Amino acid sequence: MEQRILSGIGCLEAALKELGTRKYLLVRDSSYPYLSIRNYIDALPAPHVVFDGFSSNPLYEDVCKGVALFNREGCDTIVAVGGGSAIDVGKCIKLFSKMEPEQNFLFQGYKDTGVPLIAVPTTAGTGSESTRYAVIYYQGKKQSITHDSIRPPIAILDSSVLKTLPLYQKKCTMLDALCQGIESWWSVNSTQESKGYSRLAVETILENMDAYIRDNDEKAAEKILLAANFAGRAINITQTTAPHAMSYKLTSLYGLPHGHAVAMCLPEVWEYMLGHLERCVDRRGPAYLKAVLDEIAERITYERFQKLLDQLEMRRPAAKGREQEIEILVDAVNPVRLNNNPVALPSDGIRSMYERIVLK
Ligand SMILES: [Fe+2]
Repeated sequence: MEQRILSGIGCLEAALKELGTRKYLLVRDSSYPYLSIRNYIDALPAPHVVFDGFSSNPLYEDVCKGVALFNREGCDTIVAVGGGSAIDVGKCIKLFSKMEPEQNFLFQGYKDTGVPLIAVPTTAGTGSESTRYAVIYYQGKKQSITHDSIRPPIAILDSSVLKTLPLYQKKCTMLDALCQGIESWWSVNSTQESKGYSRLAVETILENMDAYIRDNDEKAAEKILLAANFAGRAINITQTTAPHAMSYKLTSLYGLPHGHAVAMCLPEVWEYMLGHLERCVDRRGPAYLKAVLDEIAERITYERFQKLLDQLEMRRPAAKGREQEIEILVDAVNPVRLNNNPVALPSDGIRSMYERIVLK
C-alpha cells in the first residue's frame, strides 16, 4: 500500500475528515504535554479518547488495554503521536482490534483490519511511521511484530515537535536514523529503491547534523525529520542488520537507549566486515559488497563515525562483571537477525566486538 507523507500538523483535521472518522483513539506518550502541536490536536472538533497507559518499552498487556479501550469506546481510527513506542503501540492496537479478545492476540494470525492509522512522529529517529514493524515485550522478551497492514497509510511530519526534544534524546534518535540508513545500504536485502532512500537519509543527516544538534536550527530539524523517515522507508524494505541485532541486549543490560546502543555496535561491525570480506554472504558477491562499502565510505567512514560518537559524547557502557556480561551479550544475539548482514559473523567475532564496546 502506498503511504502518504503529509507536512505539518495542520493536515490532520482534513485527513480525519477524508477518512470519515467519527471517533479516534489518540495514542500518545509522555512527551505530549510538552509539544506545541498539542494545542492544535486538543482543539480539533472530532471526538477522541486518549490512551497513554504504556511505557517506553511497551508491554503486551499495555497494548491489550488499548485494544479494549478502542473497542469499548467505539473508535474507528487511531492517531499515534509520539516516539517509536507510541507508534508501535498504535500499530499493534490496529492489528489486534478485531481479534478474539479471549485468546492471546500474538497467536491468532494477522490480517488487515482496515482500521485507519495516522502516525505523527515526535522524535527524528526510528522511522516507525513508515515501517511494517512494531516491537513490544511479552513475558519479558522482545517481540517483533511484522505485517504489511500496520505500516501507517498516513504519516504527518511536523518538525516543531523537535524543539522540546532533550539534547541526549536528539543525539540518540538521530544516530538510530543514521545507523538504519547505513545498515539498510549494506543489507543483503537492499534494492535500487531502498538504496536510494539510504543514500538520501545518510547524506541529509551528515549535512544537517551540526546545525540540528549544536544550533537547534529549525530548517535542519525539518531535514533530519525527513531523513529519519527516508531511513525508515529503507529498512521497511531491507530490515536492519548486525549492529541492531547486537544492540538489543546492550539496551536491556545497561539501559542504553536504542540509538545509543546501535551506534556503539555499528563502527565495530563495519571494521570487522572490511577485514573479512571473504565471508561475504550477499548473493551479489564480495566485489559488489566492496563497492557498496566504498560508496558509503565516500560519505562517512567507520573511523569518522567513531570520531562522531566521541564528539557527541556517547559513552561506552561500563561492566560490573565484565567476562560474564560479555557471554550474556554474545548468547543473546538472535542468529536469524544476523542473516541480513552481508558478512557472516561467527561468535568469536561477535565476542571480540563486544570486548571493544564494553569498558573494563
Ligand atoms: Fe533502530
